[in-house]
Amino acid sequence: MKFQLNDNIGVQVKQFFVESNNDTSLYNYVKNKGLFSGKLGEVYLNLPFNDTKEAFVGLGHEDIVTIDNYREAYCNLLKRLIDNKEYELTISVENIETLKAIVEGLYHATYKFDKYKSNRVELPEIIVNINANFTENEFVDAIKETEDVMDSVFFARNLVNERSEYLYPETLANIVVDSLSPLGIDVEVYDEKQCEEMGLKAFLSVGRASARKPRFIVMKYMNDSESNEVIGFVGKGVTYDTGGYSLKPTSGMTTMHCDMGGAGSVIGAMRLIAKRKLKANVVAVVAACENMISGSSYKPGDVIYSLSGKTIEVDNTDAEGRITLADSVYYATNKLKVSKIIDLATLTGACVVALGEFYTGSVTNNQQFFDELKCAAENAGERVWQMPVDNSYRALNKSSVADVKNTGGRYGGMITAGLFIENFVDNNIPWIHLDIAGTAYLTKPEKYLASGATGIHVKTLFNLLNTKK
Ligand code: BES
Ligand code: ZN
Ligand code: MG
Repeated sequence: MKFQLNDNIGVQVKQFFVESNNDTSLYNYVKNKGLFSGKLGEVYLNLPFNDTKEAFVGLGHEDIVTIDNYREAYCNLLKRLIDNKEYELTISVENIETLKAIVEGLYHATYKFDKYKSNRVELPEIIVNINANFTENEFVDAIKETEDVMDSVFFARNLVNERSEYLYPETLANIVVDSLSPLGIDVEVYDEKQCEEMGLKAFLSVGRASARKPRFIVMKYMNDSESNEVIGFVGKGVTYDTGGYSLKPTSGMTTMHCDMGGAGSVIGAMRLIAKRKLKANVVAVVAACENMISGSSYKPGDVIYSLSGKTIEVDNTDAEGRITLADSVYYATNKLKVSKIIDLATLTGACVVALGEFYTGSVTNNQQFFDELKCAAENAGERVWQMPVDNSYRALNKSSVADVKNTGGRYGGMITAGLFIENFVDNNIPWIHLDIAGTAYLTKPEKYLASGATGIHVKTLFNLLNTKK
């Protein structure tokens, strides 16, 4: 996509609210006919071959319009223009905030995961002219930032859409090394033997059945020598989840290449943070493995050890994510000594049942930290819902044979999964758990997001560090 300022090309885009009064005859004509009313996401095209081409885009009600509405409206617009083979357009923009949202929306309209389609065709370059009162510098900076953001969001989406036949712990680790090291991120990859020496026993129990051997990936971006604060990101990196001996039915298994969605988001966020050279210290941990069945699998009823020293009763081998996170979170808080930590994981079906695919579920041990994250997520248009935390839920993870049990039963499953991880946050440092089981991978398109991987929370994590300069 190419952006230019204050020129005049292609389809003339006009933006309307439901309340808009505009006396152009075309607008009145289509409004009276009921063809266009300014509702959110509505698009009306008038594309004569020998006269000015126009597009109307609806933003809904003016008093309740949000930044996210701009993303949605302009994504719909560009999709419709592409359907009509129109690749040049002119948009009038009010301010930098709406500019960024519009550019995001336009980019979303172009995202496709079609690498396995033999008949795919490349989209011609789209040229967007922006009419606005920006200085050239303001304009160029805003476009560049948004392009960097979208590039890393798409990077995360491509990782999560990739199938496990090609994306498995070793290949994921190689991608991280190849794409993040050049940006000044120090990447260390530990193989199975090294993980054994490090004591990552819980993580290795999950990964050991697979022919694709586990990798423990640690990324470090240290770019604020004036601060001793180090934020930790942990992403669930199960590159395929069969459920293990607690086997999933086929219907629940087919999309389980997305079970490294947390890793995708964390890797995407690290890439973006480094590309934008944020002044921050960030370390990220991904314990990458496959949850498979073989003669060497871990089994329901097993008791396993963990890096923290705590023992875990394996009630269900399909609750594997929290076991890999136990070692990852303990490693980040105890060995890497992060001062705050956020884990992201496609962790529970219970989360999807409770919140659907629209809200990420969350638990935390620190309200102030959560409120900061919530604000960053809202600006990103990435919805997060906080769940209650209480000893009554904690009690459900108690085991009669080990220190903790890896399931808390059917009820409150999102909360007990989160609170299982809490056991491995060393020193009780501020911690947020984000269950992205619903939001990381969509079964149906939603707003400006196509079905499949969303790259959820790449922007949230970036915003969280970008605001406190
Ligand atoms: N990977 C799944 C969770 C999941 C479900 C992600 C749907 C995305 C969409 C996770 O490993 C899992 O299977 N969790 C179990 C836990 C249960 C056995 C306590 C679940 O949610 O059923
Ligand atoms: Zn599972
Ligand atoms: Mg989903």
